Amino acid sequence: MGELIYLDNAATSWPKPDNVYKFMIDFYKECGVNPGRSGFDKAIEAGNVVEDLRKQLTAFFGGDIDSPERLCFSYNATDALNLIIQGSLTAGDHVITTNLEHNSVIRPINHIVRDGGVESTFVSCNSEGFIEPDDIKKEIKKNTRLVIVNHGSNVLGTVQPVGEIGAICKEKGVRFAVDVAQTAGMVPINMKEMNIDVLAFTGHKSLMGSTGIGGLCVRKDVEIKPTRSGGTGVRSAYPYHLENYPYRMEFGTPNTVGIASLYAAQKWIAESGGVDKIHEREMKLAKRLIAGFKNIEGVKMYCCDSLDNHVSTITITLDGLEAGDVGIMLDVEYDIATRTGLHCAPLAHKHIGTIDLHGGVRFAIGPFNTEAHIDRSIEAMTEISEQAQIQKQRRAQISK
Ligand code: ALA
Repeated sequence: MGELIYLDNAATSWPKPDNVYKFMIDFYKECGVNPGRSGFDKAIEAGNVVEDLRKQLTAFFGGDIDSPERLCFSYNATDALNLIIQGSLTAGDHVITTNLEHNSVIRPINHIVRDGGVESTFVSCNSEGFIEPDDIKKEIKKNTRLVIVNHGSNVLGTVQPVGEIGAICKEKGVRFAVDVAQTAGMVPINMKEMNIDVLAFTGHKSLMGSTGIGGLCVRKDVEIKPTRSGGTGVRSAYPYHLENYPYRMEFGTPNTVGIASLYAAQKWIAESGGVDKIHEREMKLAKRLIAGFKNIEGVKMYCCDSLDNHVSTITITLDGLEAGDVGIMLDVEYDIATRTGLHCAPLAHKHIGTIDLHGGVRFAIGPFNTEAHIDRSIEAMTEISEQAQIQKQRRAQISK
């Protein structure tokens, strides 16, 4: 086997920076105790990393830096999104979302609609893969309590105009939540400037941390209703879950190793020149990939005619072969890892017409990809396309 060319960074970034692996191990070995529960030195030291990261991430997302306790840790974006959706809506409320969402939003909304007396509206993106802010505005009703939108599509890579949507929500007095799973660490985010009330992030994608850590950042005037309860480490005699942040949104012992990974990853992002620099490099590779794919017979790319407002995630189909088969060929014959199928975003695939084709092949570029990886992918797809054309001709001859 040759070197694996990993192009599945939208699923999880891999590898992680070396300092992230090292800090995770060192921290767990030296300081792997329960933070915020006990008063001995190591517990305080572990707690300091947790509290420090709250501050760093609040600043990173442009939240309220004087209220870092409102940066709460969860397991991943899905976990945070469930807390936001269930904690923002009650029977009789209306929620607006989009057809670009991941199942981490679609399913919690469908459940609360089916079981909780909430109504929903799914706004469709335009043919370029962007949500028109006015389409959201048109759907806002008296009982609309929440607008929830993904910042970057995990299928199309398009980055939504969340600032404009946020301004509309502010004007209408509707809570605005953003799923930044695909953009955090790749596209600059500023909650204040974008009028985002609450965002959900995951740590293991472009934030370059480990799996099992994510969270939400809640603006000062926003109260998410707690939908779980349990240990908080403080005020143990109190019979109910604490109302103040971060306890309000945190339940039980946190994933300290995951927190350590994000702590080190923040350092790595800063030392790599920051989000803009990382994004610029990845988009250069995305442009190279698209330019190469344009010349391959039968390859169709979706919503990437312009790479303005885009992340480095490109989904394609190949005429004559199912996405799953293309993925297997890339893997087995070329050691190229992609993700095929519906990518947990069935409505986005429905929109681009790839549901009946069983989805697409997604190339998701990360910070450790190189021009050589891109060129090899173009070469591989060229050869796979040639095979697909031969098979197509054979099938045509047989059916004559
Ligand atoms: N949400 C992840 C993806 O898009 C897992 O692949």
